[in-house]
Amino acid sequence: MKKNKISKDWVNKQRRDIYVRKSKLEGYRSRAVYKLKEIDNKFKIIKNGIKIVDLGSAPGSWSQYLSEKSKNSMIMSIDLKEVVGIKNVNHLIGDFLDEQNQVKINNFFCDKLDLVVSDMAVNTTGNKNLDAISTGELTINAMKYSIKNLKKTGCFVSKIFMGSTFNEIVKNCKKNFKEVKIFKPPSSRKDSKESFIICKIIR
Ligand SMILES: C[S@@+](CC[C@H](N)C(=O)[O-])C[C@H]1O[C@@H](n2cnc3c(N)ncnc32)[C@H](O)[C@@H]1O
Repeated sequence: MKKNKISKDWVNKQRRDIYVRKSKLEGYRSRAVYKLKEIDNKFKIIKNGIKIVDLGSAPGSWSQYLSEKSKNSMIMSIDLKEVVGIKNVNHLIGDFLDEQNQVKINNFFCDKLDLVVSDMAVNTTGNKNLDAISTGELTINAMKYSIKNLKKTGCFVSKIFMGSTFNEIVKNCKKNFKEVKIFKPPSSRKDSKESFIICKIIR
């Protein structure tokens, strides 16, 4: 498909989408917020007074929700892009795959984490299989980081794409966490290969 056609389709989809309209009315920066809300409603992942990392956070709707929902918590977000300031959220601009940035995150907390959420995704190319592979690499890195840095009672939530890396990620999560669930939130577009993996309690 030509690039112009893809962006026209995208603009039309956005206009028709009820979650886009709702996010504007409710003051969220992206429709993505409803995916995190739906995950939280079902799996109760967000508590008060905890240490949270938000991976791939721009434009910032997940961070907005984390900041509202989690009182007296320490929250750090990271994205390749800048994020306009959000109350109680410390943003790092950079590549999560760069180990130095992971060290910066760990130095900020000086402790193990309670919750890692990742909505990281590469820019879509129009080739859904290729996008799933590239985003799969991001999920694998988020998973490895979480296994190393979460408290025993910690929780890891990540976007996961149906594709060649799906089984490997689920297998690894099951090996390292006691509870592993796959969930496609109702607000996640039906035609997207995206689901979310929710992992609790390190083995
Ligand atoms: C779907 S958007 C996230 C939306 C966000 N959760 C929100 O609610 O506003 C995916 C983000 O992942 C980021 N991303 C992709 N690769 C990354 C990497 N290696 N390190 C950090 N962020 C990355 C992109 O820049 C993009 O902003």
